[in-house]
Amino acid sequence: MPHADTADTCIDARHISKMYGRTSAVDDVTFRVQRGRVFGFLGPNGAGKSTTIKMLTTLVRPTSGDISILGIDAVKRPLRVRQRIGVVLQQPSYEPTLSVEKALDKYGMMWGVPGGTRRDRTESLLEEFDLAGVRSRRNEDLSIGQRRRVQVAREFMHDMDLLFLDEPTVGLDPNARRDLLDYLQNRVRATGLSIFYTTHILTEAEYLCDEIAIMNRGRLLEVDTPDALKAKLGDEKTIKIHLPYRPPNIRDLLSGMDGCRIEFGGDHRFGGGGGSRTGSRAAITIRSSESELVLLRVLGILRENRIEIEDLSAVPTSLEEIFLNMTEELKGQQGGPDAGAGGDGGGRRNSRRGGRRA
Ligand SMILES: Nc1ncnc2c1ncn2[C@@H]1O[C@H](COP(=O)(O)OP(=O)(O)O)[C@@H](O)[C@H]1O
Ligand SMILES: [Mg+2]
Repeated sequence: MPHADTADTCIDARHISKMYGRTSAVDDVTFRVQRGRVFGFLGPNGAGKSTTIKMLTTLVRPTSGDISILGIDAVKRPLRVRQRIGVVLQQPSYEPTLSVEKALDKYGMMWGVPGGTRRDRTESLLEEFDLAGVRSRRNEDLSIGQRRRVQVAREFMHDMDLLFLDEPTVGLDPNARRDLLDYLQNRVRATGLSIFYTTHILTEAEYLCDEIAIMNRGRLLEVDTPDALKAKLGDEKTIKIHLPYRPPNIRDLLSGMDGCRIEFGGDHRFGGGGGSRTGSRAAITIRSSESELVLLRVLGILRENRIEIEDLSAVPTSLEEIFLNMTEELKGQQGGPDAGAGGDGGGRRNSRRGGRRA
């Protein structure tokens, strides 16, 4: 990946990794974010989102790799980076006895914002974050959602070029959630602020972000615009083929297939411990954007090998499903309870992203 036009780049992360003991929290992740954009980091719990944010915001040192934030080397010059960014971490941080308005004001003071500006900003943030009604209430007496809103709002007390938000909508009700996303979008449009935003909710990333990186188990699976992700993945179909029994060599027979991802599974509906010789039937799940072609080839292979088919279906893969599948498959590969060698529990990719890319 070329790294020439650095003036437009606010985050340039190259091959960053973080090991905690033997846990690989982030594993060789490379991406760039352009200024004035909202970049979404989407992934389930444990994906490595928070670890990535902590490395980008200089709170955690990467085990290896390079990070440039707003053109500054974040590993070598963490303090210079911190002066230019805002960070809302996942864990709550508040002073229990401080009132909402004092909390905002104090935060502004910490950042050296002059008194008049602090008062103006406090007033508008109380309105914009729907906190005016609880302005005198102590932090410890707020609901979780209100506290979270204070935590996000106070970050806007100071000027910054780049804001990091780690799952800021957790604990917010749907209205507050939507309000926050709209507020962020408006700030980006009005001020050219850049945002790095993590979430485990696909629809949220789709709504807010210019670009989405999908992450799981420390690895980046995809980075693209929501539209491109849909275009790339949206015409994908999921083909399910059930066989009445499990041919021992089925994986080998289908192992050379390009342009698709194949999972092998099965159930015990026909065996159920009742002593049937074959025990379980087998399920083959194939995801491909060239589903007709792939289906013809699979059917050809099954016929050549005289493998009987019980039933077959093909449906469009939804973006939600794609996300779940991407992350679930990797769980299967990387040592979930069903991931034993040769077992049929874990999904397996034929090839990473199976040639869906040109
Ligand atoms: N301080 C730490 N010490 C040990 N392991 C950690 C630490 N922080 C995170 N991890 C591990 O790293 C992985 C990624 O965690 P995290 O970055 O918090 O993921 P996410 O924010 O996507 O849920 C997890 O397996 C987690 O248990
Ligand atoms: Mg996290």
